[in-house]
Amino acid sequence: MIKKTLLTLLVALFMQTMAKADEGMWIPMLLEKYNIEQMQKMGFKLTAEDVYSVNQACLKDAVVIFGRGCTGELISDKGLIVTNHHCGYGQIQYHSSVENDYLTNGFWAMSPEEELINPGLTVTFLKRMEDVTEKVFEGTTSDMTNEERQKIIGRNIAKIKSEAVKDTHYKAVLKPFFHGNQYFLFVNEVFKDVRLVGAPPSAIGKFGGDTDNWMWPRHTGDFSMFRIYADKDNKPAEYSKDNVPYKPAKHFPVSLKGVNEGDFTMVFGYPGSTYQYVPSYHLQMLTETINPKLIDVRTEKLAIMNRFQEADPAVRIKYAAKNARISNSWKRWIGENRGLEILDAINKKQQFEAEFNKWAKSNAVEYSDLLVKYEKVYKDYTNYNLTYGYYREMIRSNGMEIAYLASQMEALKALYSADEVNEEAAGKVKEKLKERVELFFKDYYKPIDKELSAKLLAMYAENIDKAFQPDVYDLINGKFKGDIQKFVDYLFSKSIFDDKEATLAFVNDFSVKSIKKLEKDPAYVLNNSFKTVYEDEVYPKLKKYSSELAELNKAYMAAQMKFESDKVFYPDANFTLRVSYGQVKGYTARDAVYYKHFTTLEGIMEKDNPDIYDYRVPAKLKELYKNKDYGRYEVDGTVPVCFVATNHTTGGNSGSPVLNAEGHLIGINFDRAWEGVMSDLMFNPEQCRNISLDMRYVLFIVDKMAGAGYLLDEMTIIE
Ligand code: ARG
Ligand code: ASP
Repeated sequence: MIKKTLLTLLVALFMQTMAKADEGMWIPMLLEKYNIEQMQKMGFKLTAEDVYSVNQACLKDAVVIFGRGCTGELISDKGLIVTNHHCGYGQIQYHSSVENDYLTNGFWAMSPEEELINPGLTVTFLKRMEDVTEKVFEGTTSDMTNEERQKIIGRNIAKIKSEAVKDTHYKAVLKPFFHGNQYFLFVNEVFKDVRLVGAPPSAIGKFGGDTDNWMWPRHTGDFSMFRIYADKDNKPAEYSKDNVPYKPAKHFPVSLKGVNEGDFTMVFGYPGSTYQYVPSYHLQMLTETINPKLIDVRTEKLAIMNRFQEADPAVRIKYAAKNARISNSWKRWIGENRGLEILDAINKKQQFEAEFNKWAKSNAVEYSDLLVKYEKVYKDYTNYNLTYGYYREMIRSNGMEIAYLASQMEALKALYSADEVNEEAAGKVKEKLKERVELFFKDYYKPIDKELSAKLLAMYAENIDKAFQPDVYDLINGKFKGDIQKFVDYLFSKSIFDDKEATLAFVNDFSVKSIKKLEKDPAYVLNNSFKTVYEDEVYPKLKKYSSELAELNKAYMAAQMKFESDKVFYPDANFTLRVSYGQVKGYTARDAVYYKHFTTLEGIMEKDNPDIYDYRVPAKLKELYKNKDYGRYEVDGTVPVCFVATNHTTGGNSGSPVLNAEGHLIGINFDRAWEGVMSDLMFNPEQCRNISLDMRYVLFIVDKMAGAGYLLDEMTIIE
């Protein structure tokens, strides 16, 4: 009997160390200490120093932050980078029009001159990182109030950052880890001339569209290519025709050797945020309140947009990126709720908390009331957090666009409200604003905005506490007798902000007198009434609860690390460079349904359906298929397309390099499988899978379909 218990215990311990192979987003600088041994046991052939080093060129030198929320990687010594199609989507759309529809037809620069410039797009390299925890806490003591401590920490951080990049063109970023128990400094180099080299048509790059998004089996050719340009000294520079392709310290060789089940893989990129160590109350808040309510708003938004987009190709292009953005989180929330429920996650957390409390009561009394405190804060926080989420949906996150545009006038109003108007500053603001107005109307369609505004105003009134109802509802309920549609008609007939020329002229001629006119514009009034409620009623409380939670999170994190002192913890994702490693592996989705680890061109042909927008296979691809014209990308009579593995990834990891045991590029990470999208909150090694695009499909498309095979000449290809 005793023997058996011991054996179970040993097996349990063993299982625990095994499970950690998949779960975790590890700090590159600390691989040597925590991970490399296990990585090598799993097949990895490189050293920790090969992955991250400050003394030699290493893999990290080939990984970049692409734009603001994605990852990309270098694949040639001429600054060529690859990322996802959905990461370059904004740029591809920016260059698209009905005449030059790169979304539909794809785009390939056949020479450097044809590459397209992308204002505002940057890529960021990490030069080095450093644990600066001690310096950050210098001068703080445990008997200080939180406020006093934060003040000192803030001052220390500013000093560390400025010293780190003194006399250089680098940028310093400092981030808390483990909820403020540890701090790392990142010294970055940011390049600003990044040009579009190519993208497949959406029928490849977004094949399966939002229908297949977050799902496996998947057949999306989700990639696009860009090139980094530098000045003649290989340093970052604003766009100039004299810039030259950037010469990286390192680029990834592309492997055509492919993947087998059980192979080691690692993902090296920038995961955005995870919430692995939160209490059960957080999951309750999400699954019971926040997710369902926000899912509902977005369901309505998408229904309206889809209807107009399907009816008119020009509208389809205008709202393509907005729609994708709305749809992506909408679907993730649905999957997250489903996944947490199937995992019985709340219950699991509660069991953990019961054990934790028992331990705290007898061993670490200072932590014994943590969960009680949490419960209290979440009780109030939930409603404020929901209101904040809804408020963003109303205006900021593709809500009432006319109100959003009106809100952009705030800067001008402030400038002209001053006793003495700074005309020079005003001139600059006007120029910037005019650009923004142009961009706004490039992607604006009034009928959508009108319908959306009516819907959103009705939903807010129905779903949000009366205490947070903006004044504008007094107008709706008074003058318009509660008829929201009538109010919306009035809004759009009276406001100038649904009209490009009127708005441009208004900005251009803005003077002290314009302030009155602005304040009377119903779109401005609308925005203001929501903003006022947010700023006066919601934000102060939200700030209070968030800082209480931050303090609790810091303590609870430290406590969990003491409670499970044998466990190696990884910090929650915080959009810093991380390594995830695991295996190429299929999974059981539900009873009797096992998914293989890879998909092929056959699956694309199976899905082909000219009647469904998301499943229209391009003629050229069909022809290649018919002629079995696969070249060296052929495997068993077809072409591999995507594969799944057990790497722990999240939003931000899109575009990340997926590497094999040799550190060669075998895929581009772009998504997660439906059964595992709750991995931001709880990882389940049985079902959490990251989805990668197979590099053989990428090269097949570039070479055979796009006819841009010349790009392959600058890559290092391993056959
Ligand atoms: N779900 C993936 C990610 O979160 C891919 C998103 C692509 N966008 C889309 N709407 N299909 O980014
Ligand atoms: N598709 C996500 C991204 O854009 C990746 C993920 O959430 O798994 O980063």
